[in-house]
Amino acid sequence: MAARRRAAGRARIVPAVSSVEAVRRIVAAWRVRGERIAFVPTMGYLHDGHLSLVRRAARVADRVIVSVFVNPLQFGPREDFAAYPRDWSRDRRLLGEVATDLVFTPQSRLYVAPDHATQISVEGVARPLEGEERPGHFAGVATVVAKLLNSVIPDDLWLGQKDAQQVAVVRRMMSDLDWPVRLHVGPTVRERDGLAMSSRNVRLSPAERAQAPLLYRALKAGRDVMREGGNGRRTARPSIAAHARAAERAMARVLAGATLGKIDYAAAVDPHTFQPPIDVAPPRRVLLLVAVRFPSARLIDNVPVPCGPSR
Ligand code: PAJ
Repeated sequence: MAARRRAAGRARIVPAVSSVEAVRRIVAAWRVRGERIAFVPTMGYLHDGHLSLVRRAARVADRVIVSVFVNPLQFGPREDFAAYPRDWSRDRRLLGEVATDLVFTPQSRLYVAPDHATQISVEGVARPLEGEERPGHFAGVATVVAKLLNSVIPDDLWLGQKDAQQVAVVRRMMSDLDWPVRLHVGPTVRERDGLAMSSRNVRLSPAERAQAPLLYRALKAGRDVMREGGNGRRTARPSIAAHARAAERAMARVLAGATLGKIDYAAAVDPHTFQPPIDVAPPRRVLLLVAVRFPSARLIDNVPVPCGPSR
Protein backbone atom coordinates (compact mmCIF):
# COMPACT_ATOMS: atom_id res chain seq x y z
CA MET A 1 0.00 0.00 0.00
CA ALA A 2 2.05 2.87 -1.35
CA ALA A 3 -0.04 5.63 0.17
CA ARG A 4 0.06 4.13 3.64
CA ARG A 5 3.80 3.57 3.51
CA ARG A 6 4.31 7.16 2.53
CA ALA A 7 1.95 8.45 5.23
CA ALA A 8 4.56 7.59 7.81
CA GLY A 9 7.40 9.14 5.79
CA ARG A 10 8.69 12.69 5.40
CA ALA A 11 6.90 15.49 3.61
CA ARG A 12 7.43 15.39 -0.14
CA ILE A 13 6.26 17.26 -3.21
CA VAL A 14 3.00 15.68 -4.30
CA PRO A 15 2.60 15.23 -8.06
CA ALA A 16 -0.05 17.56 -9.44
CA VAL A 17 -1.86 17.52 -12.77
CA SER A 18 -4.43 19.88 -14.17
CA SER A 19 -5.83 18.15 -17.24
CA VAL A 20 -8.51 15.47 -17.32
CA GLU A 21 -6.38 13.44 -19.77
CA ALA A 22 -3.42 13.40 -17.35
CA VAL A 23 -5.45 12.35 -14.32
CA ARG A 24 -7.18 9.61 -16.34
CA ARG A 25 -3.85 8.29 -17.64
CA ILE A 26 -2.42 8.00 -14.12
CA VAL A 27 -5.58 6.42 -12.72
CA ALA A 28 -5.67 3.91 -15.60
CA ALA A 29 -2.10 2.78 -14.76
CA TRP A 30 -3.05 2.28 -11.10
CA ARG A 31 -6.16 0.34 -12.14
CA VAL A 32 -4.11 -2.05 -14.26
CA ARG A 33 -2.28 -2.95 -11.04
CA GLY A 34 -5.60 -3.59 -9.30
CA GLU A 35 -5.25 -0.63 -6.93
CA ARG A 36 -8.22 0.88 -5.14
CA ILE A 37 -8.56 4.61 -5.65
CA ALA A 38 -10.06 7.11 -3.22
CA PHE A 39 -10.98 10.69 -4.06
CA VAL A 40 -11.26 13.73 -1.78
CA PRO A 41 -12.67 16.82 -3.55
CA THR A 42 -11.80 20.20 -1.98
CA MET A 43 -11.75 23.89 -2.78
CA GLY A 44 -8.31 24.24 -1.22
CA TYR A 45 -7.06 26.52 1.57
CA LEU A 46 -6.72 23.25 3.41
CA HIS A 47 -7.11 22.64 7.13
CA ASP A 48 -7.21 19.62 9.40
CA GLY A 49 -10.80 18.83 8.39
CA HIS A 50 -9.68 18.26 4.79
CA LEU A 51 -6.52 16.43 5.87
CA SER A 52 -8.48 14.10 8.16
CA LEU A 53 -10.46 12.96 5.10
CA VAL A 54 -7.21 12.23 3.25
CA ARG A 55 -5.88 10.22 6.21
CA ARG A 56 -9.12 8.24 6.48
CA ALA A 57 -9.20 7.62 2.73
CA ALA A 58 -5.61 6.30 2.81
CA ARG A 59 -6.58 3.70 5.40
CA VAL A 60 -8.98 1.94 3.03
CA ALA A 61 -7.56 2.65 -0.43
CA ASP A 62 -4.23 2.12 -2.17
CA ARG A 63 -4.21 5.55 -3.79
CA VAL A 64 -5.64 8.90 -2.74
CA ILE A 65 -6.38 11.72 -5.18
CA VAL A 66 -7.26 15.17 -3.82
CA SER A 67 -8.73 17.85 -6.05
CA VAL A 68 -8.16 21.53 -5.35
CA PHE A 69 -10.64 23.55 -7.34
CA VAL A 70 -12.59 26.65 -6.34
CA ASN A 71 -15.76 25.81 -8.21
CA PRO A 72 -17.31 28.93 -9.77
CA LEU A 73 -20.61 27.10 -10.37
CA GLN A 74 -21.45 26.83 -6.67
CA PHE A 75 -21.08 30.53 -5.81
CA GLY A 76 -24.02 32.88 -6.23
CA PRO A 77 -23.51 36.24 -8.00
CA ARG A 78 -23.31 38.06 -4.66
CA GLU A 79 -21.15 35.43 -2.97
CA ASP A 80 -17.43 35.31 -2.26
CA PHE A 81 -15.94 33.47 -5.26
CA ALA A 82 -13.27 36.14 -5.88
CA ALA A 83 -12.53 36.54 -2.17
CA TYR A 84 -12.46 32.79 -1.42
CA PRO A 85 -9.07 32.15 0.24
CA ARG A 86 -6.46 30.47 -1.97
CA ASP A 87 -2.88 29.34 -1.24
CA TRP A 88 -1.69 26.66 -3.62
CA SER A 89 1.88 26.29 -2.33
CA ARG A 90 0.68 25.87 1.24
CA ASP A 91 -1.97 23.35 0.12
CA ARG A 92 0.62 21.37 -1.80
CA ARG A 93 2.98 21.30 1.19
CA LEU A 94 0.18 20.14 3.52
CA LEU A 95 -0.87 17.41 1.09
CA GLY A 96 2.78 16.28 1.03
CA GLU A 97 2.56 15.68 4.77
CA VAL A 98 -0.38 13.27 4.43
CA ALA A 99 -0.91 10.27 2.21
CA THR A 100 -1.82 12.05 -1.02
CA ASP A 101 -0.69 10.33 -4.23
CA LEU A 102 -1.90 12.93 -6.70
CA VAL A 103 -3.45 16.40 -6.67
CA PHE A 104 -5.87 17.31 -9.43
CA THR A 105 -5.98 21.08 -9.97
CA PRO A 106 -8.24 21.80 -12.94
CA GLN A 107 -7.85 25.23 -14.51
CA SER A 108 -11.07 27.13 -14.02
CA ARG A 109 -11.67 28.40 -17.57
CA LEU A 110 -10.70 25.11 -19.18
CA TYR A 111 -12.61 22.89 -16.78
CA VAL A 112 -15.79 24.96 -16.78
CA ALA A 113 -15.87 26.30 -20.32
CA PRO A 114 -17.44 29.73 -20.97
CA ASP A 115 -20.16 27.92 -22.96
CA HIS A 116 -20.75 25.30 -20.25
CA ALA A 117 -24.51 24.67 -20.41
CA THR A 118 -25.25 21.53 -18.39
CA GLN A 119 -26.25 21.31 -14.79
CA ILE A 120 -27.36 18.57 -12.45
CA SER A 121 -30.25 19.76 -10.40
CA VAL A 122 -31.16 17.69 -7.35
CA GLU A 123 -34.61 18.25 -5.84
CA GLY A 124 -35.91 17.08 -2.42
CA VAL A 125 -33.00 17.17 0.01
CA ALA A 126 -31.44 20.09 -1.88
CA ARG A 127 -34.48 22.34 -1.42
CA PRO A 128 -34.60 23.54 2.24
CA LEU A 129 -32.00 25.28 4.44
CA GLU A 130 -28.83 25.86 2.34
CA GLY A 131 -30.94 25.38 -0.78
CA GLU A 132 -33.19 28.25 0.26
CA GLU A 133 -30.38 30.49 1.49
CA ARG A 134 -28.13 29.87 -1.52
CA PRO A 135 -30.24 29.36 -4.66
CA GLY A 136 -28.32 27.40 -7.30
CA HIS A 137 -25.58 26.38 -4.87
CA PHE A 138 -26.35 22.66 -4.81
CA ALA A 139 -26.79 22.48 -8.58
CA GLY A 140 -23.27 23.92 -8.80
CA VAL A 141 -21.96 21.41 -6.26
CA ALA A 142 -23.71 18.42 -7.89
CA THR A 143 -22.54 19.41 -11.36
CA VAL A 144 -18.90 19.80 -10.35
CA VAL A 145 -18.87 16.66 -8.20
CA ALA A 146 -20.29 14.76 -11.19
CA LYS A 147 -17.58 16.25 -13.42
CA LEU A 148 -14.85 15.45 -10.91
CA LEU A 149 -16.10 11.87 -10.52
CA ASN A 150 -16.04 11.51 -14.30
CA SER A 151 -12.52 12.94 -14.45
CA VAL A 152 -11.07 10.77 -11.69
CA ILE A 153 -13.35 7.70 -11.80
CA PRO A 154 -12.55 6.64 -8.22
CA ASP A 155 -13.77 3.65 -6.20
CA ASP A 156 -14.35 5.73 -3.07
CA LEU A 157 -15.53 9.30 -2.55
CA TRP A 158 -14.83 11.03 0.78
CA LEU A 159 -16.94 13.94 2.02
CA GLY A 160 -17.13 15.67 5.41
CA GLN A 161 -20.06 15.64 7.82
CA LYS A 162 -19.38 19.37 8.26
CA ASP A 163 -21.44 19.91 5.07
CA ALA A 164 -24.22 17.46 5.94
CA GLN A 165 -26.70 18.70 3.35
CA GLN A 166 -24.03 18.52 0.65
CA VAL A 167 -23.49 14.87 1.64
CA ALA A 168 -27.24 14.21 1.34
CA VAL A 169 -27.39 15.91 -2.07
CA VAL A 170 -24.39 14.02 -3.46
CA ARG A 171 -25.69 10.74 -2.00
CA ARG A 172 -29.06 11.32 -3.70
CA MET A 173 -27.39 12.17 -7.02
CA MET A 174 -25.10 9.14 -6.91
CA SER A 175 -27.97 6.84 -6.04
CA ASP A 176 -30.35 8.28 -8.66
CA LEU A 177 -27.69 8.13 -11.39
CA ASP A 178 -26.31 4.70 -10.36
CA TRP A 179 -22.79 5.93 -9.78
CA PRO A 180 -20.58 2.92 -8.98
CA VAL A 181 -18.66 4.81 -6.28
CA ARG A 182 -18.78 4.19 -2.55
CA LEU A 183 -19.50 7.33 -0.48
CA HIS A 184 -17.73 7.70 2.90
CA VAL A 185 -18.37 10.50 5.38
CA GLY A 186 -15.67 11.73 7.79
CA PRO A 187 -16.60 13.41 11.10
CA THR A 188 -16.36 17.17 11.60
CA VAL A 189 -12.97 18.35 12.85
CA ARG A 190 -13.16 21.27 15.29
CA GLU A 191 -10.96 23.90 16.86
CA ARG A 192 -10.37 23.52 20.60
CA ASP A 193 -13.26 25.88 21.36
CA GLY A 194 -15.67 23.83 19.24
CA LEU A 195 -15.70 25.96 16.09
CA ALA A 196 -15.89 23.66 13.06
CA MET A 197 -12.81 24.12 10.89
CA SER A 198 -13.57 25.94 7.65
CA SER A 199 -11.50 27.69 5.00
CA ARG A 200 -13.64 30.78 5.57
CA ASN A 201 -12.80 31.06 9.31
CA VAL A 202 -9.67 33.11 8.49
CA ARG A 203 -11.89 35.89 7.24
CA LEU A 204 -13.64 36.40 10.60
CA SER A 205 -12.79 39.58 12.50
CA PRO A 206 -11.51 39.02 16.07
CA ALA A 207 -14.94 39.98 17.45
CA GLU A 208 -16.75 37.61 15.06
CA ARG A 209 -14.26 34.85 15.83
CA ALA A 210 -15.05 35.29 19.53
CA GLN A 211 -18.76 34.70 18.81
CA ALA A 212 -18.26 31.87 16.31
CA PRO A 213 -18.09 29.04 18.93
CA LEU A 214 -21.75 29.83 19.70
CA LEU A 215 -22.73 27.70 16.69
CA TYR A 216 -21.40 24.53 18.28
CA ARG A 217 -22.67 25.62 21.70
CA ALA A 218 -26.14 26.00 20.20
CA LEU A 219 -25.93 22.53 18.64
CA LYS A 220 -24.94 21.05 21.99
CA ALA A 221 -27.90 22.79 23.65
CA GLY A 222 -30.18 21.34 20.96
CA ARG A 223 -28.65 17.91 21.45
CA ASP A 224 -29.33 18.09 25.20
CA VAL A 225 -32.97 18.88 24.48
CA MET A 226 -33.26 15.96 22.02
CA ARG A 227 -31.71 13.62 24.58
CA GLU A 228 -33.66 14.79 27.59
CA GLY A 229 -37.01 15.68 26.10
CA GLY A 230 -38.52 19.06 25.30
CA ASN A 231 -39.13 20.03 28.93
CA GLY A 232 -35.81 18.80 30.32
CA ARG A 233 -37.26 15.54 31.64
CA ARG A 234 -37.30 12.11 30.03
CA THR A 235 -40.82 11.27 29.00
CA ALA A 236 -42.34 7.80 28.73
CA ARG A 237 -43.35 8.21 25.06
CA PRO A 238 -41.25 10.95 23.59
CA SER A 239 -42.59 12.92 20.65
CA ILE A 240 -39.65 13.40 18.33
CA ALA A 241 -41.46 16.16 16.48
CA ALA A 242 -42.07 18.10 19.71
CA HIS A 243 -38.50 17.58 20.90
CA ALA A 244 -37.20 18.73 17.54
CA ARG A 245 -39.17 21.97 17.81
CA ALA A 246 -37.93 22.48 21.39
CA ALA A 247 -34.36 21.83 20.21
CA GLU A 248 -34.77 24.47 17.50
CA ARG A 249 -35.92 26.99 20.11
CA ALA A 250 -32.98 26.12 22.39
CA MET A 251 -30.50 26.56 19.52
CA ALA A 252 -32.01 29.90 18.51
CA ARG A 253 -31.75 31.13 22.12
CA VAL A 254 -28.01 30.38 22.21
CA LEU A 255 -27.43 31.85 18.74
CA ALA A 256 -29.10 35.08 19.80
CA GLY A 257 -25.79 35.75 21.59
CA ALA A 258 -24.07 36.01 18.18
CA THR A 259 -25.01 39.67 18.04
CA LEU A 260 -22.66 40.46 15.13
CA GLY A 261 -24.34 37.92 12.87
CA LYS A 262 -27.75 37.09 11.45
CA ILE A 263 -29.21 33.64 12.14
CA ASP A 264 -30.06 32.04 8.79
CA TYR A 265 -31.53 28.93 10.43
CA ALA A 266 -31.52 26.69 13.51
CA ALA A 267 -33.21 23.49 12.39
CA ALA A 268 -33.84 19.89 13.43
CA VAL A 269 -34.51 17.57 10.47
CA ASP A 270 -34.79 13.96 9.41
CA PRO A 271 -31.36 13.38 7.77
CA HIS A 272 -32.91 11.39 4.91
CA THR A 273 -35.49 13.95 3.85
CA PHE A 274 -34.18 17.18 5.39
CA GLN A 275 -37.76 17.81 6.51
CA PRO A 276 -38.89 18.14 10.17
CA PRO A 277 -39.01 14.68 11.79
CA ILE A 278 -42.50 13.20 12.16
CA ASP A 279 -43.75 10.89 14.88
CA VAL A 280 -45.55 8.42 12.60
CA ALA A 281 -42.26 7.57 10.89
CA PRO A 282 -39.62 8.60 13.44
CA PRO A 283 -36.04 8.63 12.10
CA ARG A 284 -33.29 6.83 14.02
CA ARG A 285 -31.30 10.04 14.01
CA VAL A 286 -32.17 13.70 13.91
CA LEU A 287 -29.80 16.20 12.37
CA LEU A 288 -29.43 19.56 14.07
CA LEU A 289 -28.14 22.32 11.80
CA VAL A 290 -27.28 25.98 12.26
CA ALA A 291 -26.16 28.75 9.94
CA VAL A 292 -25.08 32.27 10.93
CA ARG A 293 -24.21 35.03 8.52
CA PHE A 294 -21.47 37.22 9.99
CA PRO A 295 -20.48 40.30 7.95
CA SER A 296 -17.11 38.69 7.07
CA ALA A 297 -18.13 35.07 6.55
CA ARG A 298 -21.16 32.82 6.68
CA LEU A 299 -20.72 29.81 9.01
CA ILE A 300 -22.61 26.50 9.07
CA ASP A 301 -22.40 23.54 11.42
CA ASN A 302 -24.41 20.46 12.41
CA VAL A 303 -24.53 17.47 14.73
CA PRO A 304 -26.39 14.19 14.24
CA VAL A 305 -28.29 13.01 17.34
CA PRO A 306 -29.41 9.40 17.75
CA CYS A 307 -32.99 9.17 18.96
CA GLY A 308 -35.66 6.58 19.59
CA PRO A 309 -35.64 3.56 21.93
CA SER A 310 -32.06 2.47 21.22
CA ARG A 311 -30.42 5.80 21.90
P1 PAJ B 1 -14.52 22.40 0.81
O1 PAJ B 1 -15.33 23.37 1.58
O2 PAJ B 1 -13.11 22.74 0.51
O3 PAJ B 1 -14.57 21.03 1.59
C1 PAJ B 1 -13.99 19.88 1.04
C2 PAJ B 1 -14.42 18.68 1.88
O4 PAJ B 1 -13.91 18.83 3.21
C3 PAJ B 1 -15.95 18.57 1.99
O5 PAJ B 1 -16.36 17.23 1.89
C4 PAJ B 1 -16.20 19.14 3.38
O6 PAJ B 1 -17.39 18.66 3.97
C5 PAJ B 1 -14.97 18.67 4.12
N1 PAJ B 1 -14.74 19.49 5.32
C6 PAJ B 1 -14.71 20.85 5.39
N2 PAJ B 1 -14.53 21.24 6.67
C7 PAJ B 1 -14.45 20.12 7.42
C8 PAJ B 1 -14.26 19.86 8.82
N3 PAJ B 1 -14.14 20.85 9.71
N4 PAJ B 1 -14.23 18.57 9.24
C9 PAJ B 1 -14.37 17.55 8.33
N5 PAJ B 1 -14.54 17.73 7.01
C10 PAJ B 1 -14.57 18.99 6.56
O7 PAJ B 1 -17.14 21.15 0.16
C11 PAJ B 1 -16.50 21.63 -0.75
O8 PAJ B 1 -15.21 22.10 -0.62
C12 PAJ B 1 -17.04 21.73 -2.19
O9 PAJ B 1 -18.42 21.92 -2.13
C13 PAJ B 1 -16.70 20.49 -3.05
C14 PAJ B 1 -17.30 19.20 -2.51
C15 PAJ B 1 -15.17 20.35 -3.19
C16 PAJ B 1 -17.28 20.72 -4.48
O10 PAJ B 1 -16.78 21.86 -5.05
